[in-house]
Amino acid sequence: MTLTSNTPLKDSQDTPLHRVLWGKKQILVNDQEPLLPQLERAGVFVEYQCREGYCSSCSLKLIRGHVMYPSEPLAWVQSGYLLACCAIVKSDIEIAFLS
Ligand code: FES
Repeated sequence: MTLTSNTPLKDSQDTPLHRVLWGKKQILVNDQEPLLPQLERAGVFVEYQCREGYCSSCSLKLIRGHVMYPSEPLAWVQSGYLLACCAIVKSDIEIAFLS
């Protein structure tokens, strides 16, 4: 499965959508809210505690793609990782859950 496509995806309100790939699963997310609630609505469980960027418990490995943070999280975000509770997905991404 590849992440790239020449056709931009949009929802019914014309909001751009991005693919989130982990393993062989894929969901579509928008850039209007953080990744965590969108994963939860898709039935994906992500460990969390604060949901505000303080604790790092929602850290996921970012294999490829881009996310941004509307405000800088207080928790340390290691290079190659993201904080799902506050990361806004800005491109198709591939993630891995920490074991
Ligand atoms: S849940 Fe605490 S930083 Fe995301």
